[in-house]
Amino acid sequence: MTPAARLAAAIEILQDWHEHPGKIDRRLAEWGRRHRFAGSKDRAAIADRVYDCLRHWRSDGALCEASSIARGRAHVLASALREHRNLAPVQEIFGQGVHAPAALTASELSAARAFLTAAPLPDWPAWLMPDLISSVPDPELLIARQRQRSPLDLRVNRLKTEPSKIIKSLQAMGCEAAQGPLSPDCLRLEKPRSLTGTEIYQSGLIEIQDAASQAVALLAAQGMAPGSLMLDLCAGAGGKSLAMAACAPQARFYAWDIDRARMQDLGPRAKRAGARIEIVSSGKLEGLRGRCDRVLVDAPCSGSGTWSRDPDQKWLFTEARLAELVDMQARVLDEAATFVRPGGWLVYATCSVLRAENEAAIEQFAARAPGQFAPVDLKQVWQAAGLGTISPFSAPGCVRFDPVAQQTDGFFVAILHRAPKTR
Ligand SMILES: C[S@@+](CC[C@H](N)C(=O)[O-])C[C@H]1O[C@@H](n2cnc3c(N)ncnc32)[C@H](O)[C@@H]1O
Repeated sequence: MTPAARLAAAIEILQDWHEHPGKIDRRLAEWGRRHRFAGSKDRAAIADRVYDCLRHWRSDGALCEASSIARGRAHVLASALREHRNLAPVQEIFGQGVHAPAALTASELSAARAFLTAAPLPDWPAWLMPDLISSVPDPELLIARQRQRSPLDLRVNRLKTEPSKIIKSLQAMGCEAAQGPLSPDCLRLEKPRSLTGTEIYQSGLIEIQDAASQAVALLAAQGMAPGSLMLDLCAGAGGKSLAMAACAPQARFYAWDIDRARMQDLGPRAKRAGARIEIVSSGKLEGLRGRCDRVLVDAPCSGSGTWSRDPDQKWLFTEARLAELVDMQARVLDEAATFVRPGGWLVYATCSVLRAENEAAIEQFAARAPGQFAPVDLKQVWQAAGLGTISPFSAPGCVRFDPVAQQTDGFFVAILHRAPKTR
């Protein structure tokens, strides 16, 4: 496909997404199935363009409002203008050949000129701006960060290998990687690429996992004694369970998720990784009440800390959904607390940057269970986990990873300690 034909494809996909909003990765996959002539490089270039447009959806919308250009076309035009910082090369691409988008009209040209010099609107849902402002120290920096593509981080499986060996294997494939932030097991790729078909992935030597997500697992499992018991109550596909099991191999890991189908890959992933994780039945789960040394709640959340990876979700998120999630988080925290033994830890994590889903959830939990849980000394846990420079603590026992400085997802974690039994 020519560069112009790729732009035309991105226009078609975005127009369809605008008219029928939904998950963009599925939309891109469907498009690929219907257009078999498109090669892998074409599909990757089209996806990059579509994601770039979605990361700038609100700011680029200005172009569309100024000139009534259809949404798909306006966003791709804006993306091309951002890429070239100049109208002439963009004007050459539009209208070039039979598969290209139509040539720019006079009104589109004048809207494009104005767009090149206008100050962009913040790429964050307007209704959620007040929450962002009250949640993070520098909202503009976070928004700017989420306009960029996220790096690709790997977790090297310390049960099977070590980072230096993986760096060499990657080099042999023509792929450069270096030590990533936070966890010593984290490698960051210079250029993101798909690794799921490679031998190092298939044989369980690596997992694809954001650096902050890895760090949450390291904190949660830090210092677990042999034989001690961890329940991952919202295990999903098991990213955190696998990382925890790798750093405390003598401990026992139990995984549960209300949606059992989400855990279907966990068994094969654990087998590949050589990790021991038991997916529990509801009967077994009952028997764990009050007995777990650690319980991790990797809570269902807005995912607002990952909106650079999933920019479509940013524009589909609603006020009603936020209220629903806050309610769900409170219920799952209360439920999780019943599994923690006296003296054990309750670990709560989200990939959200919103205070309502993070510090506020912990404050409200503490108010519902007064005197039962207290924040742990997170500084000490952080140092023992070997996570390097300490991120600022946002409240006692709570830490927010720094998505701007460390280019990670915006994770939050709180660790609470259950009061020991008193006579
Ligand atoms: C953020 S995802 C978990 C991701 C996973 N821990 C990982 O690292 O790959 C949240 C999960 O919580 C599950 N969930 C939601 N409500 C729950 C509940 N009340 N009890 C258990 N799991 C729940 C969802 O099905 C979803 O899989």
